[in-house]
Amino acid sequence: MPSTVRVRVPAKINLSLAVGPPRADGYHNLATVFQSVSLFDEVTVTRTDSTGDPRIDVSGTDVAGVPASESNLAWRAVAAYAKRLGREPNVSIAIRKAIPVAGGMAGGSADAAAALLACATLWEDGTREQVEATAAEIGSDVPFALMGGTAVGVGRGEVLTPAMVRGTYEWVFALAAKGLSTPRVYRRCDDLRGPAFDRKPEVNDAVMLALRTGDSAALGRALSNDLQPAAVSLAPHLESLLELGVEHGALGGIVSGSGPTCGFLVGDTDEALDVAVALSASGLCSAVRRAEGPVPGATVVETG
Ligand code: C5P
Repeated sequence: MPSTVRVRVPAKINLSLAVGPPRADGYHNLATVFQSVSLFDEVTVTRTDSTGDPRIDVSGTDVAGVPASESNLAWRAVAAYAKRLGREPNVSIAIRKAIPVAGGMAGGSADAAAALLACATLWEDGTREQVEATAAEIGSDVPFALMGGTAVGVGRGEVLTPAMVRGTYEWVFALAAKGLSTPRVYRRCDDLRGPAFDRKPEVNDAVMLALRTGDSAALGRALSNDLQPAAVSLAPHLESLLELGVEHGALGGIVSGSGPTCGFLVGDTDEALDVAVALSASGLCSAVRRAEGPVPGATVVETG
């Protein structure tokens, strides 16, 4: 039985995100297309003798907002999985972050997914169904972080179907110095739409067709996000940032999930460099990252 397990887990972008009206439970029904992209966190879970308080260590750049306590999603995932299996969560968790914090790329959910996979491997206990049920309980984006690739998500985003995809896609991401709160962006979306809004969210057919045919120009044109007006109203500079990326050759630009990270789809490496340089020079973002998608979901990279 291993005593330590290290898992690598990717960030996500929503290629399309259709949001319905608020439900009675406060969530919103979604019809979204997720894609995993090659910005990775690493989560190492190690067996300990003590039960007591969780031991969490968080490292990486700009991790000041990440709790090293019971409220960390990775710890909540471990505690929930241990409870489901009827055992003590006697582990320590080390998280090395490269996914932007509070950036709309599901970094916290990714860490929860990684911690679940690490515990299932470490304890050699639990079925795939038990891991997946715990993932859905912890957060709407956690099941996709386990699965990875490209998938359609409905319900809260936790009901997944893998999508047919040809080829890989190159992305440039513009990171923000300050995150946005996901509940706040959803609330702003509801406010902008008003109480009469009742449209059912639908999967974006143009996105699905572009993915099936591997047509990145068509995908760039089809990118859509119902949360974008809300994110832009809370962080107005995002509008200029999105325009700038497209002016410098991106095939399309979009706020990632609830933002404020913006993702720009590019056709090749030259375009990626042009867009990255323009975004960096603009002063409208704090950092720029290049990535490709789709990539696999949470993956065990080392056991010891
Ligand atoms: O599921 P998760 O905890 O990641 O969601 C964070 C917040 O985002 C929720 O508390 C809710 O405000 C909002 N949300 C939503 N509808 C969804 C997913 C998230 O309203 N489908």
